[in-house]
Amino acid sequence: MRSKLYYYTLIPTFVICLSIFFYYAYSQDTISEPKMRAIPGISAVDSFPHSCVSCHKNFPDRKMDVRLSTILSEWKEKIPDEALAKYQASAPEGITLKGKHPSSVDGQASIPEVCNKCHGKSMKTALPFSRLMHVIHLSGGNNNIYLSVFGGECTHCHKLDQVTGAWSIVNGNEADEGK
Ligand code: HEC
Ligand code: HEC
Ligand code: HEC
Repeated sequence: MRSKLYYYTLIPTFVICLSIFFYYAYSQDTISEPKMRAIPGISAVDSFPHSCVSCHKNFPDRKMDVRLSTILSEWKEKIPDEALAKYQASAPEGITLKGKHPSSVDGQASIPEVCNKCHGKSMKTALPFSRLMHVIHLSGGNNNIYLSVFGGECTHCHKLDQVTGAWSIVNGNEADEGK
């Protein structure tokens, strides 16, 4: 009786335990080293060194002109309703948007420095970029092209000086981008 128990229960249990032990011991050995995260400008190439204007360009071959000067000149007529509703929802109390952009910008201007004259932190007629830029580029999940196509990186806009540790938003002009 005792030897039956021995053969049919204890031995198989021992074999199973041993296999589990070797399985884990082996799989620990084969776990690969974690890969370094590719952060543009920090641990990977920065493809948008001039921030806004490096990305908001004219792409004639794709019939897509997304320069900020072009967008704003269209917005002098009308800011599209859907966009306006989204911006209004993010507006600090006391700002009611009218639905038209007051002016366009010159392609030679320093962007976003020139925008900050009206979109700075304490402005009361236009929305401060310190919030608006994140609402535009980082909300809406998969439907937002900045997230779905450009990876939603902070460092496409915010640039780190690796020596001093200081963050800044660099400026650029559309003419320098060559299109
Ligand atoms: C790496 C690319 C990239 C960079 C850098 C970038 N943007 Fe954008 N921007 C986009 C994309 C993509 C969208 C469209 C987002 C969406 O799907 O709604 C967008 C949308 C916008 C819009 C709304 C345009 C519209 O037609 O609705 C404005 C205004 C804008 N960006 C301004 C800026 C400013 C100012 C900066 C710099 C501080 C900047 N962007 C930096 C890619 C970029
Ligand atoms: C002369 C001042 C001025 C300058 C310069 C300016 N803006 Fe504006 N902008 C405004 C005002 C005022 C509004 C609000 C329009 C409304 O009431 O519908 C606005 C609206 C916007 C909006 C919609 C959200 C909002 O605040 O209503 C975006 C996006 C925007 N501007 C982007 C830009 C960008 C990008 C630049 C620089 C390339 C720029 N603006 C330069 C005054 C300015
Ligand atoms: C499309 C460009 C853009 C992207 C992408 C972006 N930012 Fe910003 N961010 C700005 C701008 C422009 C300002 C205003 C800077 C200023 O006023 O000098 C700002 C300001 C800020 C501030 C200061 C806010 C305040 O109230 O003063 C913080 C914090 C910040 N960003 C964090 C982030 C983080 C974290 C990410 C990524 C998850 C990110 N940003 C992505 C453009 C961007």
